[in-house]
Amino acid sequence: MHDSILRLQSCAVDVVIKTHPFTEILYWGPHLAHFSPQDALSLARPVANGRLDVDSPITLMAEPGHGLFGAPGIEGHRQGLDGSPVFRTVDVSLQGQALTIVADDREAGLRLTSEITLDTTGVLVVRHGLTNLKAQPWQVERLAVTLPVAERAREVMAFHGRWVREFQPHRLTLEHDSFVLENRRGRTSHEHFPALITGTPAFSEMRGDVWGVHLGWSGNHRLRAEVKTDGRRYLQAEALWLPGEMAIDQGETLWTPRLYASYSPQGLNGMSQQFHRYLRDNVIRFPENKPRPVHLNTWEGIYFNHDPAYIMRMADEAAALGVERFIIDDGWFKGRNDDRAALGDWYLDRQKYPDGLMPVIDHVKNLGMEFGIWIEPEMINPDSDLYRAHPDWVLALPGYPQATGRHQLVLNLNIPQAFDYVLERMSWLLGEHPVDYVKWDMNRELVQPGHEGRAAADAQTRQFYRLLDTLGQRFPHIEFESCSSGGGRIDYEVLTRCHRFWASDNNDALERNTIQRGMSYFFPPEVMGAHIGHHKCHATFRQHDIAFRGLTALFGHMGLELDPLSVDEAEREGYRHYAALYKRWREVIHHGTQWRIDMPDATTLAQGIVSDDGGQGLFIVSQLQMPDYTLMMPLRLAGLEAGARYRITLLDHPNIRLTGEGGHTMRKLPAWMEVPQVVSGEWLMEAGLALPVLDPESAILIGVERV
Ligand code: GLA
Repeated sequence: MHDSILRLQSCAVDVVIKTHPFTEILYWGPHLAHFSPQDALSLARPVANGRLDVDSPITLMAEPGHGLFGAPGIEGHRQGLDGSPVFRTVDVSLQGQALTIVADDREAGLRLTSEITLDTTGVLVVRHGLTNLKAQPWQVERLAVTLPVAERAREVMAFHGRWVREFQPHRLTLEHDSFVLENRRGRTSHEHFPALITGTPAFSEMRGDVWGVHLGWSGNHRLRAEVKTDGRRYLQAEALWLPGEMAIDQGETLWTPRLYASYSPQGLNGMSQQFHRYLRDNVIRFPENKPRPVHLNTWEGIYFNHDPAYIMRMADEAAALGVERFIIDDGWFKGRNDDRAALGDWYLDRQKYPDGLMPVIDHVKNLGMEFGIWIEPEMINPDSDLYRAHPDWVLALPGYPQATGRHQLVLNLNIPQAFDYVLERMSWLLGEHPVDYVKWDMNRELVQPGHEGRAAADAQTRQFYRLLDTLGQRFPHIEFESCSSGGGRIDYEVLTRCHRFWASDNNDALERNTIQRGMSYFFPPEVMGAHIGHHKCHATFRQHDIAFRGLTALFGHMGLELDPLSVDEAEREGYRHYAALYKRWREVIHHGTQWRIDMPDATTLAQGIVSDDGGQGLFIVSQLQMPDYTLMMPLRLAGLEAGARYRITLLDHPNIRLTGEGGHTMRKLPAWMEVPQVVSGEWLMEAGLALPVLDPESAILIGVERV
């Protein structure tokens, strides 16, 4: 048996795979220092009474033909035939830590090619390709990646969400059957982020064994955590296809999206740190390796009211505040005065911009800033010249009326003329203007998406990729942001072709604390757009002082989302201050290791980022609500060098001066805030640092520096 046992290894994680006669993942866990293939025999299972007389493996493709009985990894047929394939390995090739396994089912006329790669970061990447070997098409209902996890993974964590409240984690204990997360909205979605985490009971940020998976796909998806009746467990993830949507012709291969998986014995932080490192090493590619510039995006400042003279004054002020990239949002194209009309008419609005865009762009660039612009290429308003000329260019099924969303319909990019039209218009915009940055929006869901009468959500997603790929190749110097009503299209596949995410349309600092924390499980700070919004938040009407807003925007890619001309000097001073603070620390924030810290009081969120050499760390403590306890418990820092000594500095301390005055929660500061201290890394991590008692909706920023 042990001839067919292979191991993929990294410093922290190993995966042991049996390849013959069919492929089974036997182990996915900590790196094994003393492994030898014959050890795997110890796992050969007994056969239980009262069921099949043979062993039923959870194979790589989870075929029911092995007597699996749980959720299969493959479903489909050829007009009712060839519907229960069982694959036998025909070829195995291992190159470094990348394994390719080819398996056939001659009866069903199908071939399965599986790619399993273990990255040095410990992240496992898996995808399957299904090839049809027979003459008639094979109708694919489902094709999933299945990963067995250890039986001790009894709890599941997933994310729910909605527009302006994305990435909200929830937890459950799973003892039987399955937990399923399905997305049918046609984009990655605010509601069902394609990820599942499972772990040992009460796994936390710092503790527990954790197995997390993310499906890199920007369309419909299904993820499942399953407990078999025999106690074995697995995670499964797939693109979700609508009825009749997917078929493969003879010789054709259908690839699943990639499943990214991270195991860590060091809690959620370990899982996230591996994902972050993986993305930094393999996926995130900025056209130029420069610090992430401070943005000003005009949307919440002026909405559709574009007046070039005023915009240029905004740019003057932005530059004076330290902004490095100025982005004109929605409202620049012909007839776009509100959100009811003009999507699709990608021509400059000459009434608003009689002299073209160049005066504004030149002005922005002369101020030393980069220039960015908003587009929403996949959409069409019924009230547009494009729709009047081509009403049949809508992604729809004939005979059914289409509901609009935000007054708009989806442009069917599967129609070559429609695709070429958008490509031509985008090429005009990006080719004839010195644009550095594009905010690419996508503001509605797909309902009955159809092309030539057939469901076409998958095809539309692929056309979106093709459009972005083509533009990325034509304009390699341009950075693209994936926005989708903020937060609606955030995943690893779109990240292979974009450079930033607009995390949420909600700039309320209180809400942002949980949204950004949720996003941090899978994405590092440098790709997370985080803006300081108006004093009175436009999404919630909650009011926050500049300190809480500024500090909350610090641990991402910072920007301003407002009109700096319409606020008083104290506000502006705040923008200047936080832009400068961000610039001083962005090297650490965007390259260091992120730690979310377990706090005993659920009303407190704490996190930090430590530079890779352990020399510098930045920690933020955010108090969301009235604390449960009268004292805040010590902050146990993480990621420091145990033997080194660190100088602790309070870098930003909003309102802390109000100490002792009536109505506030604290009388006397912790000693270190009055008398500077130098403390060992070990002590800071094991014993901690006393925290001041913070008021609700405030935060403090602590710096540590090795002496
Ligand atoms: C979406 C985006 C916003 C803004 C508007 C413009 O809602 O998420 O940031 O660009 O569209 O219409």
